[in-house]
Amino acid sequence: MHSISDLQVILKKVFDSASFSQEPAELYDPIFYTLNLGGKRIRPLLVLIGCDLFHGDIEKAGPAILAIELFHNFTLLHDDIMDRAPLRRGKETVYKKWNTNVAILSGDTMFALACEYLSQADPDVLPLALSEFTRTARMVCEGQQYDMNFETRKVVSIGEYLEMIRLKTAVLIGCSLKLGAILAKAPPAETAKIYSFGENIGMAFQIQDDLLDVFGDEQKFGKEIGGDILSGKKTFLLLKAYEIAPEKEKSELDQCFSDPSIHSEEKIERVTKVYQSLKIREITLEEIGKYFSKALQSCDGIDADVNSKKALGLFANDLLKRDF
Ligand code: IPE
Ligand code: IPE
Ligand code: MG
Ligand code: MG
Ligand code: MG
Repeated sequence: MHSISDLQVILKKVFDSASFSQEPAELYDPIFYTLNLGGKRIRPLLVLIGCDLFHGDIEKAGPAILAIELFHNFTLLHDDIMDRAPLRRGKETVYKKWNTNVAILSGDTMFALACEYLSQADPDVLPLALSEFTRTARMVCEGQQYDMNFETRKVVSIGEYLEMIRLKTAVLIGCSLKLGAILAKAPPAETAKIYSFGENIGMAFQIQDDLLDVFGDEQKFGKEIGGDILSGKKTFLLLKAYEIAPEKEKSELDQCFSDPSIHSEEKIERVTKVYQSLKIREITLEEIGKYFSKALQSCDGIDADVNSKKALGLFANDLLKRDF
């Protein structure tokens, strides 16, 4: 079994030695730009963790690692167009720096590259790995569509929101771990448990992302604070606020989201003030904690080395304690 920091070293080696086509530069420059900004690279690390937990050969996980991160980065390029986001990983988003067509096509190319990489997996695990990956990709698109549908829908339940984030975010976190377990030829009952662990961590991760979008530090978060408020996203914070707000706060939120004469900065400030008065931050942290506990339950049930499971729990805890 390897420590998380050992796995980080392997991860870095895989990314450093990966080579892609270069031409045409208009297509590949935005891909290098995005990949070189790094990001946290959580999902490829989870592929390695999943593989290592079931005694797989982590040296052979390179293509799957690259596939998962390329796919994730593809979703980000398109997501930033859809969310009208100016900033990602502390830098201009691709569609802002270049243009929307470039972000669409470079994104598509990353998805294609992801499939090419994944197809290099061992032939005996390839069918399962590929079907898991493409099913996940489809679900992410479904989640992204719900996310956009909800922007203009007046009423969205917290249940609908939870299903939306399960699709757009949690399934990919689950898939990353499961893919690692599939490479290690873990039995289906075990791959299902590690998937469930990842899915619950993914739920907590997206709720935390919603929280940081309001209360995070822009420097560390690398994304525009208040972006979700400006694009009318139905986040956990907003839906919970509507659920518990007395009439006065409800009508303040209604006004903020319906009066186009309110400028961006004022809108963010007023909505944040409502959140503060309703203690939404504290309620959101509790929700994150609930999903973390659920995840730990799934982790407990996995038939694997106790210390490795403990390390996995600690890693997830650190991930959800971070403020970026
Ligand atoms: C951003 O994912 C998209 C969400 C699901 C919130 P990350 O927060 O993992 O982004 P990077 O890859 O570290 O930039
Ligand atoms: C993330 O949702 C989902 C995907 C990118 C698939 P967000 O729109 O909240 O992600 P960020 O905040 O832009 O990273
Ligand atoms: Mg989005
Ligand atoms: Mg976004
Ligand atoms: Mg977000």
